[in-house]
Amino acid sequence: MFINTPPMGWNTWNTFGADISEKLVMESADAMIQSGLKDLGYEYVVIDDIWALTERGEDGRLVPDPEKFPHGMKYVSDYVHSLGLKFGMYSCASSLTCAGYPASYQHEWVDAKTFAEWGVDFLKYDFCFHPMVVRADILYKRMSLALANSGRDILFSACSWGSEHTKQWIKETGAHTWRSTHDIVDTWDSIKKLAQSQICAQEYNGKGCFNDMDMLVVGMNGKGHVGLAGCSYEEYRLHFSLWALLNSPLMIGCDIRSMTPQAKQILSNRDVIAINQDPLCSQPFLVNNMQFQPNECRGPEDPFFKEYPLEIPMIAKYLNNGDIAIGIFNFTDSSASPWKTTIPFDNLGLAPGKRLELTNLWTGETKKSVNDVIRENAIPAHDCILLRAKIIDA
Ligand code: GLA
Repeated sequence: MFINTPPMGWNTWNTFGADISEKLVMESADAMIQSGLKDLGYEYVVIDDIWALTERGEDGRLVPDPEKFPHGMKYVSDYVHSLGLKFGMYSCASSLTCAGYPASYQHEWVDAKTFAEWGVDFLKYDFCFHPMVVRADILYKRMSLALANSGRDILFSACSWGSEHTKQWIKETGAHTWRSTHDIVDTWDSIKKLAQSQICAQEYNGKGCFNDMDMLVVGMNGKGHVGLAGCSYEEYRLHFSLWALLNSPLMIGCDIRSMTPQAKQILSNRDVIAINQDPLCSQPFLVNNMQFQPNECRGPEDPFFKEYPLEIPMIAKYLNNGDIAIGIFNFTDSSASPWKTTIPFDNLGLAPGKRLELTNLWTGETKKSVNDVIRENAIPAHDCILLRAKIIDA
């Protein structure tokens, strides 16, 4: 199986943690249809950790908790499929999942077979308690091979949080996405930290195997399992824009049965989704801090960034039709003045003599560039601008 664009869907973990059931999953699948999310491309309905009994059955197979899933997993999966959606589940590359339930190490082939029989289309594969005697790449290779031979197309969503140098070996394993961050929580600090940690991970990102910045917290508003403080509308909008621009999977984490109009508006922005799902899937690149060559891109832990933190990253991505997506993200606590948010054409790889017709993907406003630069007015604290730039004759 090969994937051309980052997966989109919904996952139980961020809001529901252990509090999951057949009823919740089926109602959420219904909500994917009724809210219009399916029509926008969200297709996977994924059950995360804490779905199984604490012991395998006598046949050595994983057993869904009958209190949560009284009709078994095939029943849930059939329902999800009947709506034209896809079904996802969760396991771990060790004997226990992160929450302490049985996991797939040494059971890879039987579990892959079980998942295939249940109609699973997506497997998130975690890394807690992984055995130290087996190299991490081997753990992921084992499950990848088992899935690829399960008789079913199953998207393999690796989740080793970037540890053990994941980026260096993950593509060898055949995984389709790899978690390039630690766990997200529903706070501005978490969004900021995860985002800044990704600026230099882009060379590992692309068609076939996408960097996964973790599930979205848009619309959680402080409620649920990783709820905490919650974020403002602008902060959620920045979060969604950045995840979209950096080719991350867009896996919703709020309760989609009761989304606020604001959350729905953010998650349903077709123009932003189109940036994420652009068929070229080209590599996003930083257009400020141009004193570095691309191959010298330094991570946030670098002493340079410690002294001059990348507080207002400006990131561009070439699109399939020749347009350029451009995001300016203000991570500071004050409004960003235009002298900090001006992008010369050179930094975009654009020769002079052209102009850009700029569409703001959140307001719909359009304007034309002047003087071979993109120049944005004050961007408020914790807010962003996401533009689609069309190249036109001057
Ligand atoms: C890890 C993962 C999370 C979630 C939990 C479940 O922390 O990174 O995304 O799946 O495990 O226990």
